[in-house]
Amino acid sequence: MGFTDKQETLVKDSWEFMKQDIPQLSLRFFSLILEIAPAAKNMFSFLKDSDELPQNNPKLKAHAVKVFKMTCESAIQFRKKGEVVVGETTLKYLGSIHLQKGVADPHFEVVKEALLRTVEEAMGKKWNDEMKEAWAEAYDQLAAAIKAEMHAEA
Ligand code: HEM
Repeated sequence: MGFTDKQETLVKDSWEFMKQDIPQLSLRFFSLILEIAPAAKNMFSFLKDSDELPQNNPKLKAHAVKVFKMTCESAIQFRKKGEVVVGETTLKYLGSIHLQKGVADPHFEVVKEALLRTVEEAMGKKWNDEMKEAWAEAYDQLAAAIKAEMHAEA
């Protein structure tokens, strides 16, 4: 199944809207990750030693932004080419950093759930099934590419 113009637009437009409030978005995203999988806390350098989410941590924001932004870019590539194209080095780097941090395949489902719920809350009335499907599909493509890289290296 290809990715349509409409799906690309849904992802791009909602990201444009959401990125106006990165601090809030990042905190919500991480609190959902920990709500769904409390044990994930120990993998993140900036979380493992604190009981609460750090309020203004650049690394926390960076991970949140990367996940959203790369999913959005993956949607664009996926629509144009029918596959996820992230720079070869980036994909290799993404594979090895996650492998090194102890990330495993099931964690990607946790992050997917947290991502979809973050978008849903941020978009409020504009949220709908089509938007959900578009984000889910774009994320799945990107996650599959990262996981493939992790398996190749493991
Ligand atoms: C690090 C992206 C999914 C856990 C990173 C970095 C990037 C990234 C770019 C490097 C950050 C840097 O260079 O500063 C992504 C993308 C994902 C994804 C695009 C999904 C599409 C996940 C998942 C987990 C995870 C599912 C586990 C729940 C981590 C951890 C680090 C990391 C623990 C190291 C962060 C630190 O402690 O500073 N990720 N990630 N990531 N990622 Fe992900």
